[in-house]
Amino acid sequence: MTLAWPLIAEIRELKRAREAVILAHNYQHPLIFHGVADLRGDSLQLARLAQEVEARTLVMCGVHFMAETAKLLSPKRSVLLPSFEAGCSLADAITPEDVRALRRQYPGVPVVSYVNTTAAVKAVSDVCCTSSNALKIVEALGSPRVIFVPDRHLAGHVARQTEVEIITWEGGCVVHEEFRLADIEALRASYPQIKVIAHPECHAEVQEAADMVGSTSALIDWVAQEKPREVAMITECTMSDNVASHFPEVAFHQPCSICPYMRKITLEGIRDVLRDGSGQVEIAPTIAAGARRAVARMLELS
Ligand code: 13P
Ligand code: SF4
Repeated sequence: MTLAWPLIAEIRELKRAREAVILAHNYQHPLIFHGVADLRGDSLQLARLAQEVEARTLVMCGVHFMAETAKLLSPKRSVLLPSFEAGCSLADAITPEDVRALRRQYPGVPVVSYVNTTAAVKAVSDVCCTSSNALKIVEALGSPRVIFVPDRHLAGHVARQTEVEIITWEGGCVVHEEFRLADIEALRASYPQIKVIAHPECHAEVQEAADMVGSTSALIDWVAQEKPREVAMITECTMSDNVASHFPEVAFHQPCSICPYMRKITLEGIRDVLRDGSGQVEIAPTIAAGARRAVARMLELS
């Protein structure tokens, strides 16, 4: 087994030399999340941090759409992604042509695209959203109908809380679709005191059986505030590993589903992009202008 510590020390040194800041999503491996990241968060927090942080170079320890969003908001900075295999099943679920076809089918209806999409899809959308501001963005548009792509479960989560008619798409997250009602029932049978909190990318039956539904950071904040004695976070299970040590009085019980895309980011990959300046994220200018407008509008409205 290779020891992690020499690699972590090398990354810290390269980071200083390159005047870089490392951003990590809540699903990153604990060695990355605790060992080398400077700033951590959910998709919305990472987008805001990418805009605000002072650094010549950003290393995005997350998936490709997160690095693209950072680049859209910080076009003058180098944004490095340690693996271009770090994709997302939701981003793969819809193309710009699909969005154009929806617009033809529903003329005049605004399009909200989940931030888990390519820059090319964002460029043909009116505005983006994340799991933490989806309802707010949909309602801020002031339209009686909204096209909401591509995650049908997040769309359902919004639809259950608003009068706005939601037209959606058949996209889904390979990680969250693993969880089913039977998992929640089994948890409640084994741990009668347990609180079950779920991400809105889960099936409707899971969301409806949960005590709370929210973005990854909203789930962490809920545990910090409510201090349940026992909890199950129904989301990518690395996150519980990352935060359990902050809450020693809380017992975490976790059906586990791991994001194969997030796992493409490794300490070796981070070291390599910092050493070589490789992994540069670039967005074609023809796409970047429209995509930036959709992301900037989201930040204004949320
Ligand atoms: P959050 O914005 O809630 O962190 O979600 C990102 C994601 O990819 C969930 O699967
Ligand atoms: Fe995409 Fe799902 Fe992985 Fe999040 S957990 S990055 S939505 S595949």
